[in-house]
Amino acid sequence: MRPRIGVLTSGGDCPGLNAVLRGIALAADKLDFDVLGFLDGFEGLLPPGKFMPLNRRTTSGIMPRGGTILGTTNRGHFVAKVGAGEKAVVSPEVIANAKRILAEQRVEALIIVGGDGSMTTALQLQEAGIDCIGVPKTIDNDLEATAMTFGFDSAVASVVDALDRLHTTATSHKRIMLLEVMGRHAGWIALHGGIAGGAHVILIPEIRFDYEKIINAVRMREVRGSVYSLIVVAEGACPAQGQGVMRRTDGAEDRYGGIGNVVAAEIAARTGKETRCTVLGHLQRGGAPTTLDRILGTRFGVKAVNLIHERQFGSMVSYQNYQVRHVPIADAVNRLRLVPPDGEMVQTARDVEISLGD
Ligand code: F6P
Repeated sequence: MRPRIGVLTSGGDCPGLNAVLRGIALAADKLDFDVLGFLDGFEGLLPPGKFMPLNRRTTSGIMPRGGTILGTTNRGHFVAKVGAGEKAVVSPEVIANAKRILAEQRVEALIIVGGDGSMTTALQLQEAGIDCIGVPKTIDNDLEATAMTFGFDSAVASVVDALDRLHTTATSHKRIMLLEVMGRHAGWIALHGGIAGGAHVILIPEIRFDYEKIINAVRMREVRGSVYSLIVVAEGACPAQGQGVMRRTDGAEDRYGGIGNVVAAEIAARTGKETRCTVLGHLQRGGAPTTLDRILGTRFGVKAVNLIHERQFGSMVSYQNYQVRHVPIADAVNRLRLVPPDGEMVQTARDVEISLGD
């Protein structure tokens, strides 16, 4: 009987997860492991256990598919993060149940594919004696311990596509068009998407904005003969005077969304110009992964299996200097990589006449 690896996908889904699962299944087979995929995130570990085999047959053809064939959730019994930096403790009873199911299924080590919250849970499982390997995932690309996560490039591609579409309708109607994009704490999606999509104003959580500065940027464009403007707003953006838009939910992470419409209404009121807001929402998380995310996902999946083979438990796969390496999960959790307000990306945006609203 071959030794068995478990794998689960947890937290918000993103393009590239299936490439990771396929990479795991094929690399594991080569090293003589069987793989059991647990369904619906960590919840699949609870009695009676929900799982499916991951092998050449079950992962065939899944690479171009968005989402995760295993299902996922960012709610449930294992949620270890609620607000930014806030850690919740997974109950010992829940962990004991998960251990029992893993033992019954002869699973010797568990690969956890997820974001900061899921890595916080992984750390608690590791400390409770379950051998874990983490694979980082977030479209927000805001984990300090890895230079890049798969899903980000696909999300940015959706933003750029949306901006290209908004561009033509904005010019036709001479309107101000806002696009609200994801990014709770970090503005990477807004910044990369906005630069590539030719936005004129980009509002990110790291730089508090001033309505008058946004309006100045729009007026300056008019003086130069451009009677329309494209504004990208990260969901976590916040005015210098006032609040962002966020609400707490029971037993899950904070929910963001809504700041785009607030900003649009304020700009319309102050300028009298026709202003519209589009919320891109989960379109950023769905659909086929880009080439880059397929490759990164595959590399991360293969690395996770190799780390199990090397018995590097408690490690998380990490991308550094164009190499796939690993770091202790303990060093990876709770460390967000935010956009440096005086960094090169922000300066590049400013140098191509993009206002950051400050
Ligand atoms: O962290 C990834 C993310 O996509 C955030 O940008 C966004 O706020 C959140 O997930 C949305 O999650 P949900 O699936 O709960 O709507």
